This record gives sequence, C-alpha cells and structure tokens, in this order.
Amino acid sequence: MALFDFWRRKKEEKKEEQIFPKIDLHAHILPDVDDGSRDEAMTLEMMEAALRASVVHINATAHHRNNLSPEIAEISRAFSKTRELRDKNLLPLSLSCSLETEFYPEVESLFKECRVSLTGKGGKYALIEFTSDVNQQAAVAAVFQLSLSGFRPVVVHPERFYFVQRHPEAAGEMQSRGALIMPNATSFVGHYGQIAKETAESILKNGAADALSSDAHRPDYYEQYAEGCRWVAKKYGENTLVELTWKTPCRILGYEPEAERDDFDPFL
Ligand SMILES: [Fe+2]
Repeated sequence: MALFDFWRRKKEEKKEEQIFPKIDLHAHILPDVDDGSRDEAMTLEMMEAALRASVVHINATAHHRNNLSPEIAEISRAFSKTRELRDKNLLPLSLSCSLETEFYPEVESLFKECRVSLTGKGGKYALIEFTSDVNQQAAVAAVFQLSLSGFRPVVVHPERFYFVQRHPEAAGEMQSRGALIMPNATSFVGHYGQIAKETAESILKNGAADALSSDAHRPDYYEQYAEGCRWVAKKYGENTLVELTWKTPCRILGYEPEAERDDFDPFL
C-alpha cells in the first residue's frame, strides 16, 4: 500500500508541475562567466533541468560586483552562445539576460549609463543583492534612492542577508520603499540552512515576497526549486505559487499577468 501511495503522490506532483508553468528571473546558466555554469555542456543540462521543473522562461543572470565583474561584451557573447545551444537542441524555453548587481553607491550611474536591466520593456528592473556588512537602514535607503531615480530594484534572496535574518520585517520595509522582494525557492527546502529557511518562511508569511526564483548555479538546483515551489503551493495555496512564479514575473517582463504559456515565444 505504501508503495502504491508513493507512486500516486509522484504522479500528482508531476501533474501539478505541468499545470503551473513558471518564469525564473534569476539563474546563472551563462557558460563560464561567473560561479554558475562551468561550460556549455552544463548550460545545456541546466536548461533541460529547468524545463523538467516547468520553467518556460529563464532570465540568465551574471554576477556584477564593484571592480570584479565580467565585461558586458563577455556576458553578451555567453548569452548568444546560450541561445544557440537552446536553438540547436530545440528546447522550448524563452530567454532574457541581465546582471545581478551587488549594491555599491555608484551603481545608479552604471544603471543610467548602460540601462542594465531585467526587462526589454522600459529596462527599469534591476536585480540587487547586498554585501554582508550592509545594515537594514542602509539597504532601505539604497532601494528608496534607486526607486526615486526611476529604477525598480528587485532584491534577490533577502533571506540570506544577515540584517534580514536578524529582522525579517526588513524585507517588508524595503518593499514599502519601492523594492520587489524575490527569495530563492530553494531556501524553503533548506538549501542555505535552517536560518535562511526560517527567514524565507517568515518573509512569505508576512506577505513580503513578490516573486520566487531558482538562483541556480548547477543543474540540480532545479530539483530543489521545484520542491520549494511545491512546498509553497501546499502551505499557501496554488494561487500564491502562480502569483510568485508566473503573474508577477510576467508583469516584470512586460507581459500581461494573464499571459498564457503560448505567449512566450520559445525562441525569443
Ligand atoms: Fe545569483
């Protein structure tokens, strides 16, 4: 009986993933530009793993740190290579590309100069992470300043920052100052340890999460991402999962929130 239950559950899980296509706005699938995918073979594996997790669009991200960052031209080349791999292997996956920027004071002028952004529509969304020495006050001031300048900061994995772990309400405060908050779905299943897991749960419970992403650095991250998404659906309902992995990411990418899977040109 137990074995029967196991396979029935597996079947239901699979069905659920097929019903809910997802958009992953933060994944390090570009080959050999940062600590993400090591090479083209791994990039291909990561895209295949994402498809198994029902992802239909990946925003391929590259780390950007002050004085320590791949050249924009290098990132563009890696992105072209990623699209070629996708096309050659006929993967039904649409792609975009942006930086994941570690905040530093001059970042605003960088954004103004090259419109480093998430979306083609207006180019105003910027993925932001903070260094470990940044405190709550500085982070809130940073997102507020960026918002005043016309950008929409998307704060990635807040559950991993010390100031949010100490004060989870900091996520809501950044949100109220114009930021979108995007935890990693993998945190809900303990990928970054117990404190990050509890912090991510607290952010979600407080209604301070706007979207979820994988922050995938290796193919197996997508199994934990799918597991984290299932956890969210089970605990907070399917509508919450759809809002976090589909509707809000659709808005960020410039699609209508009611977009269908077919609206995503797989060869974009
Ligand atoms: Fe990242």
